[in-house]
Amino acid sequence: MADALKLKVILGSTRPGRFSEKASAWIMELLKNHTEFDTEVLDLRDYPMPYYEEAGSPSQIKLGADHGKDVVNAWARKIEEADVYLIITPEYNHGYSAVLKNAMDYIYAPWNNKAVAFLSYGSVGGGRSVEQLREVAVELQMAPIRQAVHIQAPWMLRDEKGELKAGVLDSYKDSAEGMLKQLAWWAQILKVGRATV
Ligand SMILES: Cc1cc2nc3c(=O)[nH]c(=O)nc-3n(C[C@H](O)[C@H](O)[C@H](O)COP(=O)(O)O)c2cc1C
Repeated sequence: MADALKLKVILGSTRPGRFSEKASAWIMELLKNHTEFDTEVLDLRDYPMPYYEEAGSPSQIKLGADHGKDVVNAWARKIEEADVYLIITPEYNHGYSAVLKNAMDYIYAPWNNKAVAFLSYGSVGGGRSVEQLREVAVELQMAPIRQAVHIQAPWMLRDEKGELKAGVLDSYKDSAEGMLKQLAWWAQILKVGRATV
C-alpha cells in the first residue's frame, strides 16, 4: 500500500541464541498478511551504540538534527522514518534489557507522538518488563497501547537445535492479531495528528 504505516519491529536483545529473533520471525510471518503496514526489522546488533555518554540531553536535539555519532545518527534516522513501533522485549531480572534502554535513551524527538506495542516473553510472559517499558514510553512522548503478546516460558518452546517447535506459538495468534489491529488504529490517528496539528 502506498500510504502504508511504517512499522519498525525492534529486537530488544542482542545476546547469542536470543529468543527475540525467533519471536520476530514469527510476528513477521503474521505481518505478511497486514498490508496496512510497511514493516522493517531493526536489530540492535546493527546499532552498537556506547552506553549513553553525551554531555547534553537528547531531548534538546531537534528532529532530523545531528546526534554527533554516526551510529546514533543511523539509529535516529530509522526511528524518525517510522510511524509506529513494535518492541520485542525479554525480561531480565524483572525488567527489560539494558541494551534496549540505552537505545531508547539515546534519542528523543524521533520517538515522539507515535504508538508502540510490545511482544514480550519470560516466566510470566515478560509482563513485568512491559509494565516498565510503558512508563519509559510515556516519558518519550509515545502512546503505549493496551494490547500486547506475552509468551510464557520461551525456554520450553525450542528444540535441541534452538529452533521453535512446530506450532508452539499458534495459541498467541489471536492476541497478536488484536494487538496489530489496535496498533494500526493508533498509528493512523497519530499519523494524521503529526501531519495536521
Ligand atoms: C540476565 C538474565 C536475567 C533474566 N531474568 C529473568 C527474569 O527476571 N524473569 C524471567 O521471566 N526470565 C528471566 N530470564 C530468562 C529470560 O526470560 C530468557 O532467557 C529469555 O530467552 C531472554 O531473552 P533473549 O533470549 O531474547 O535474550 C533472564 C535471562 C537473563 C539472561
